[in-house]
Amino acid sequence: MTRRVAIIGHPVSHSRSPLIHGYWLRQHGIDGDYGVRDVAPEDIAPFLADFPASGLVGGNVTVPHKEAAFRACAVRDPVAAALGAVNTLWLEGDNLHGANTDVHGFLANLDAAEPEWARALGEAVVLGAGGAARAILYGLLERGVDRVVVANRTLARAQTLRDQFGPRILPVDWRDLGGRLIGCRLLVNTTSLGMKGQPPLDLDLSALSPDALVTDIVYVPLETPLLKAAKARGLATVDGLGMLLHQAVPGFARWFGVRPEVTPELRALVIADLKAKGQFA
Ligand code: ATR
Repeated sequence: MTRRVAIIGHPVSHSRSPLIHGYWLRQHGIDGDYGVRDVAPEDIAPFLADFPASGLVGGNVTVPHKEAAFRACAVRDPVAAALGAVNTLWLEGDNLHGANTDVHGFLANLDAAEPEWARALGEAVVLGAGGAARAILYGLLERGVDRVVVANRTLARAQTLRDQFGPRILPVDWRDLGGRLIGCRLLVNTTSLGMKGQPPLDLDLSALSPDALVTDIVYVPLETPLLKAAKARGLATVDGLGMLLHQAVPGFARWFGVRPEVTPELRALVIADLKAKGQFA
C-alpha cells in the first residue's frame, strides 16, 4: 500500500518539501506519496490527536504548527524535547512520534560546504532569536563552539535563549552588534531580513576575520544581500537552501527506509523551481 506523508502547515502551498521528497521517491522507485495538508490553527490539535485517521504514516510540520506538534507527540527525540518544537512526525502503532531535524539540517549543510567550519571557532555570532535561532544555537553548542553572541532587535528574546542554553550564550542589543563582529569567524543570519519583500540586512562586514564563514538561512532569494556583501569581501558563504535539503533527510529515511542523498541534481531542481516562481534573485 502506498505510504502517504505530507507537509502540514498554514499556509503551506509555497512549500518545497513535496518537490524534494518527490525527487527521492522517484529516484528510489518507492511506492510513496508526499502531499500537502493545509490545517488551520483551530484544527491542528484535533488533527494531530487523531493522526492515524488522516491516512498519513508521518509528516513534516511547518509554521505555525511546530509547537502544537510537539505537544501532540507521545514520544519526542532529545532535540525536539530541548527545542519544544517538532518538524518531523511518524506513527509507531497508534503512537505519534516527533523529531526536530532543523539542527541536523543546519549542521549538515555547513559540514557539506566547509567540513572544517567548527574547528577552533571560538565565538560565533547569530542574528535573530526566533525558533530557527534556537535550533541553530543547540547545534552550535553541541558542536563545541565556545560562545555564541546572539544579537536581536528585541533583546529580551535573546536573553530568554541564554536562560535556556546557559552562559555560553551572550545576548547583545542589535545596536551593539558592530563591536561583536571584530575577528568573528562564523556569522549566521536567522532573521527574516534579506528575504524577498523584507528590508535587506545591512551590516558592515569589514571587521570579520578574513577566514570568516557567513551563512544565511534565508534562501529566497538564494543569494541574499548579506551573502552578496560577504562574497564581495572574499569571505566564504553558505546559502540557506542546503539547510532545507538536509533537514529533509532524516524524515525520508524514517518513513521510507532509505537514507536519501542531497545531490547536486536535487539542488538544481529546487533552484529551477525558485527561478520559475521568480524567487531566485
Ligand atoms: P523563526 O521562528 O523563523 O526564527 P521568528 O520567531 O518570527 O521566526 O523570528 C524572526 C527573527 O527575525 C526575530 O529574531 C526577529 O526579531 P524580533 O525578535 O525583534 O522580532 C527578526 N526580525 C524580523 N524582522 C526584523 C527587522 N525588521 N529588524 C530586525 N530583526 C528582525
